[in-house]
Amino acid sequence: MKKLGVGLVGSGFMGRSHAHAFRAAAGIFPLPLTPVLELLADVDDDVAAKAAQGLGFARSTGDWKALIADPAVDLVDITTPNVLHKPIALAAIAAGKPVYCEKPLAPNAAEAKEMVDAAEAKGIVTAVGFNYLKNPMVALAREIVASGEIGEVVSFRGIHAEDYMTDPAAPFTWRLDAAGGHGVVADLGSHIISIARHVVGPIESVVGQIKTVTGERPAGPGASEMRKVEVDDEARALVQFAGGATGSLEATWVAAGRKMTLAFAVTGTRGTIAVDHERLNELQLYTTGQPGGREGFKTILAGPAHDSYAAFCPAPGHQLGFNDIKTIEVKALVTALAGGEKFLPDFREAWEIQRVVDAVVRSAREKRWLDVSEV
Ligand SMILES: NC(=O)c1ccc[n+]([C@@H]2O[C@H](COP(=O)([O-])OP(=O)(O)OC[C@H]3O[C@@H](n4cnc5c(N)ncnc54)[C@H](O)[C@@H]3O)[C@@H](O)[C@H]2O)c1
Repeated sequence: MKKLGVGLVGSGFMGRSHAHAFRAAAGIFPLPLTPVLELLADVDDDVAAKAAQGLGFARSTGDWKALIADPAVDLVDITTPNVLHKPIALAAIAAGKPVYCEKPLAPNAAEAKEMVDAAEAKGIVTAVGFNYLKNPMVALAREIVASGEIGEVVSFRGIHAEDYMTDPAAPFTWRLDAAGGHGVVADLGSHIISIARHVVGPIESVVGQIKTVTGERPAGPGASEMRKVEVDDEARALVQFAGGATGSLEATWVAAGRKMTLAFAVTGTRGTIAVDHERLNELQLYTTGQPGGREGFKTILAGPAHDSYAAFCPAPGHQLGFNDIKTIEVKALVTALAGGEKFLPDFREAWEIQRVVDAVVRSAREKRWLDVSEV
């Protein structure tokens, strides 16, 4: 079978997850191409060599430009800090190579649009790692809403809350560097926006509120000097969907005790669905018209009847995890690269998500409702 040479740039949290997903996907799904972990790039030769050995890559380099030029690399996979997504992606596109990039696509919507235009001008396949859209329970949520089972959508309430920046003594990282874009509204908010668009549809206008909770942090691990924080730690927005529904979105990385509260509820005229990724194998469904005294939500557990689950396990309720969802994402990407169903979210959809991120921040700063089309 034809091979797909994977070139991975970055070997941190997400680099490890992508490497795992490429290795696993070929064993779990009948893929049209066989991914080969060909070349890994990181900040320097030593870091890259160590990571390549640990993650199972054949070769390594301390220079991502060499990775793009390498003839054995068929796909450029970007898992670096956000500020590097654009230069690496544009170079890969110029070399005619498909790009798999982590979210958020770029520091802002204007830069994301440059990436969309470059990819579309050359007809390059692009994919962005909004992996939670590949959770079978999110696919089920979208299916239930689209089928009309809960009636016409009235409202969407969504939140992505974690607590990794709660400690004021936690040092400055690239996530806090305004050069890479906004703060939590981009880092976590982009995920809940991606789900809102996927399940309910386009967001027309927003009114946002953002807050920096810790104004300065140690400049680095163990550093005594402090560095000013110029991005948001918390963000909220009321939103108006183009289809008529209203909603609220929330993102925070200072929610003490919350580890993976990527949660949403969609309420329609005949019911409600709810998903929380701290229990990502469950979907709660309430439909109206149940007998009095017996009304309530039912819990649907992920199983082989749901999208992609059966490839992992023949038994329901045995549970998929974060890396399995990344593996489903890789399956969809490899299928698209072989000429199968188009991969979504692509750069264009990631730009649309980024416009909502930018709109929330701008609306908060200007203290007014803002049409996303203004961004
Ligand atoms: N989809 C998700 O669920 C999810 C989760 C976490 C992070 N992310 C995204 O993934 C990306 C990476 O985040 P992370 O948490 O893995 O970060 P990380 O800090 O753990 O890893 C970043 C990696 O990039 C490398 N790197 C930095 N500069 C480089 C350069 N010039 N050349 C080559 N490599 C370089 C670092 O050495 C490190 O290996 C971000 O865009 C982030 O938003 C997505």
